[in-house]
Amino acid sequence: MKVFITRVILEKGIQVLKNAGISFTEWTEQRGLTAQELVEHCTGYDALLTAGSDKIDKNFLNTCSHLKVISLHSVGYDNVDIAEATRLRIPVGNTPGVLSNATADTAFLLMLATSRNAFNMHKSIEKDQWKFFTPGANLGIELSGKTLGIFGLGKIGYEMAKRCKGAYGMNIIYHNRHINELAEKNLGAGKVSFDELLQQSDVLSVHTSLTPQTKEIFNAAAFKKMKANAIFINSARGGIHNETDLTAALQQKIIWGAGLDVTNPEPMGHDNPLLNMPNVCVLPHIGSATVEARNEMSRLAAENVVAGLKGLPLPNWVNPF
Ligand code: DGY
Repeated sequence: MKVFITRVILEKGIQVLKNAGISFTEWTEQRGLTAQELVEHCTGYDALLTAGSDKIDKNFLNTCSHLKVISLHSVGYDNVDIAEATRLRIPVGNTPGVLSNATADTAFLLMLATSRNAFNMHKSIEKDQWKFFTPGANLGIELSGKTLGIFGLGKIGYEMAKRCKGAYGMNIIYHNRHINELAEKNLGAGKVSFDELLQQSDVLSVHTSLTPQTKEIFNAAAFKKMKANAIFINSARGGIHNETDLTAALQQKIIWGAGLDVTNPEPMGHDNPLLNMPNVCVLPHIGSATVEARNEMSRLAAENVVAGLKGLPLPNWVNPF
């Protein structure tokens, strides 16, 4: 049995494959595969382990319907046509849970950095702009006692809310389809409508998945409903915000600041105007980039491959078989 891996992954997962006697090939080039290359490489393999944003669309799935399992090295699966994989009876697995701490830390980092203009303050020193002290210059916003709004309170959103409650006693509100009982009980979180989330949040942090329903839901109309001193944080998927509208909302001071670990599109261009705004902090999609999280992601992804190749249910499945 052979698996094709679309990036070089960390050692823990490689060990799982070796222990199970599964041979593998990793794509080692410093660029993503083209759609054609992905198909060509999968032709001689029984399984695919995809890390990154490879498009697993209808065309790919129908051409590679011989695959016994598709294992994602991510919790998000918006790059996969799950309905088509299910129709073709190809199990798809992901890596939930193990990146919640790392991703919540990234959202928290962006919130704090944005609230104090940290990235641009750093840049100003590099530009030799640290000259003399003025009490009214470089002012940030404090977070103590403010309201944190979570859009999508699942595992990662819960960890972000826990950090904000613990560090700053923030009041937690959230917008979900379902009630999150744990967050209500442990963090005093309150479920609100989408409009209430927009209107009441001092910090609004996005932790939902990208779906047709959430695509660009944070647009001009949404930003207009937010507080003028609000900070928008997105560490989920860039496609959930409309970046032109976000840029305009910041330029027109409709909202106060933004912290982004994900951009729309990715990668962000080096000349993007957001990079030069004082109250904006941008990171290159590093949410899960810790030694701990990436090793666990590689382990879970490999365990899904092993189970799929044995014809067993995947330990972490997206579509149940
Ligand atoms: C995920 O797991 O979906 C992350 O965004 C990957 O970096």
